[in-house]
Amino acid sequence: MPSNTPTPRPGILDINPYVPGESSVPGGVKPIKLSSNETPLGPSPKAVAAYKAVADELDRYPDGAATALRDAIARQYGLNPERIVCGNGSDELINLLAHAYLGPGDESVYSAHGFLMYKIATLANGAKPIAVPEKAYKADVDALLGCVTPKTKVVFIANPNNPTGTYLANEEMRRLRHGLPGNVLLVIDAAYSEYVRRNDYEAGLELVATTDNTVMTRTFSKIYGLAALRLGWAYCPAAVADVLNRVRGPFNVTAPAIAAGVAALADRAHVERGIVHNEKWLPWITAEIGKLGLAVTPSVGNFVLIHFPTQKGHDAASADEFLKSRGIILRRVAAYGLPHCLRMTIGTEDDNRKVLAALSSFMGRA
Ligand SMILES: Cc1ncc(COP(=O)(O)O)c(C=O)c1O
Repeated sequence: MPSNTPTPRPGILDINPYVPGESSVPGGVKPIKLSSNETPLGPSPKAVAAYKAVADELDRYPDGAATALRDAIARQYGLNPERIVCGNGSDELINLLAHAYLGPGDESVYSAHGFLMYKIATLANGAKPIAVPEKAYKADVDALLGCVTPKTKVVFIANPNNPTGTYLANEEMRRLRHGLPGNVLLVIDAAYSEYVRRNDYEAGLELVATTDNTVMTRTFSKIYGLAALRLGWAYCPAAVADVLNRVRGPFNVTAPAIAAGVAALADRAHVERGIVHNEKWLPWITAEIGKLGLAVTPSVGNFVLIHFPTQKGHDAASADEFLKSRGIILRRVAAYGLPHCLRMTIGTEDDNRKVLAALSSFMGRA
């Protein structure tokens, strides 16, 4: 008997929907929101002006090829614009890559505390997600390679990773790529790359340039402060760019996003301010929270993973409630297999000091 209710494809109902960082606290007060790794500095005023300037042309479709934006990205990074594909956030590009390269019978491989979208995009396409244990909250190249089978079609890796903040050095990433079969697509998600200040780090451009099977994704949602506009891009081998251009929507990036993205890229002083701010407050937060007796995973991104004790009343859930009662929203990361942790985005100086004072009270230090 055929069912008389529509049934989604296998895998879809196994998806736990992505739960975004919370944005409100009880009592209607404006919260300190440090739950989505947004920049505390806001977007470049030049990007805002460019966005507003498009308001008179909303009746026109955008340029479906996002040519001005791809050219601006290509100029900024010294890339071939033909191999850049823009997306409605890098989330869309992750989904499109999964859509194009994963299907029933296939597997994707990613690290256990990797970004949640990899599992969601894999299941949405009927493939099997394989989460690989990490070492000290860091992706383990040997373990990842050890989980590759003839069914593996894609390896996703966020570098640095959200929510752990750890990264793979260039050498390790190269070892991962060269240990994978040629038919396996390596997706390096470099959403936080602008924040990384390490000599042994490379965002992924080199591997994309030198191999035929590596893609790097980037976003305008973090250091560029344009999360609301949903704008990301991928640098791809020519054949992968061709595939993405076949499956993406014809106008997947909006005209205001294209205009703001071009202007944001040009405002290097604003990006530099974001880097300098993070360089100052990331180590400060890490050290000060450490002094409260809470472990903080060393991070190279614009956020830190804070580990809480497991006893009731002292655990991450209790800390979350306590902070919320003070108008502060961090991110619960139980969905990432980290029920004893909270993730905190680096905020303004005032926000950072308020979180520290609140955590200090929670730990009974103040
Ligand atoms: C590692 C990682 N990749 C991708 C994204 C998605 O970014 P976008 O806003 O470009 O979709 C995020 C957002 O939090 C992220 O943390």
